[in-house]
Amino acid sequence: MEIRRALEVLRWEGAGGLLVRALRKTLHPALRIERVRFFENDLARPLPPVPARVALVYRTVSRADLPAFADSFAPFGVGIADASERLDLGDVAVVALVGDEVAGLTWLTTRATWVDEAGVWLRLGPGEATGYAGSVLPAWRGYGIAPSLWRWAEQWLHANGFVRIVEWIRADNVQSVKTTRRLGRRPTRTVWTVWALGMRRPLALGVGDGQRSPALFRRPPSASPLAGARADVPRG
Ligand SMILES: CC(C)(COP(=O)(O)OP(=O)(O)OC[C@H]1O[C@@H](n2cnc3c(N)ncnc32)[C@H](O)[C@@H]1OP(=O)(O)O)[C@@H](O)C(=O)NCCC(=O)NCCS
Repeated sequence: MEIRRALEVLRWEGAGGLLVRALRKTLHPALRIERVRFFENDLARPLPPVPARVALVYRTVSRADLPAFADSFAPFGVGIADASERLDLGDVAVVALVGDEVAGLTWLTTRATWVDEAGVWLRLGPGEATGYAGSVLPAWRGYGIAPSLWRWAEQWLHANGFVRIVEWIRADNVQSVKTTRRLGRRPTRTVWTVWALGMRRPLALGVGDGQRSPALFRRPPSASPLAGARADVPRG
């Protein structure tokens, strides 16, 4: 681990975090164990805003707005083709602006979603949505932008008739777990993936049979979920 990164981990995760990461890195060529945690929040009731430590403007970005936002999405690793495809499929982009700059971005969807970190498919039920590819630009981290933006996204979902948000996080993503806890999201399930030298693909443990919430599957679920809680969900 390079020194700069090690100091960063030490600062944000302490000596224990640094030790665990160094051990994982050493074992990485032969053994990889990941833990992915699922959380959810009840959206049936209105949730209070979570203030950030910087003034923010929140909004959704529609297909028509996209050309104006293409440059802002690039630092998040989202090209205009990807963004167009996601919007065409009915996903919603939610941004937090500091002045004219997009500091935070997250995507919302009701589609069955591949959870790469856990090697499983997440299928959402009626009135459920999930967020993916959420990120705050490095220069803006630590201002409480993520919890504030994620809460605004929850409020937007509530206003559009959704009743639950489901989310997953790698357990070692300390920043994201903190953000999630700050939002009062409750932990639901944990999936472990284990890969050892010689295995073709990682083994996922704790996937279950799709009966428990959130419904997880090893193969793509055949039935598409509903496109939204209400047919009149505005997409912009
Ligand atoms: C996870 C993430 C969205 C949090 O965004 P944020 O707006 O910085 O969130 P917060 O300001 O509430 O900070 C959360 C925690 O991150 C840590 N943190 C703050 N500033 C940081 C920085 N500059 N660098 C690293 N960690 C930092 C702190 O531990 C903080 O908790 P604390 O306030 O109790 O000390 C952001 O770190 C990020 O974009 N990470 C990369 C992408 C990612 O992991 N996305 C989530 C996928 S599930």
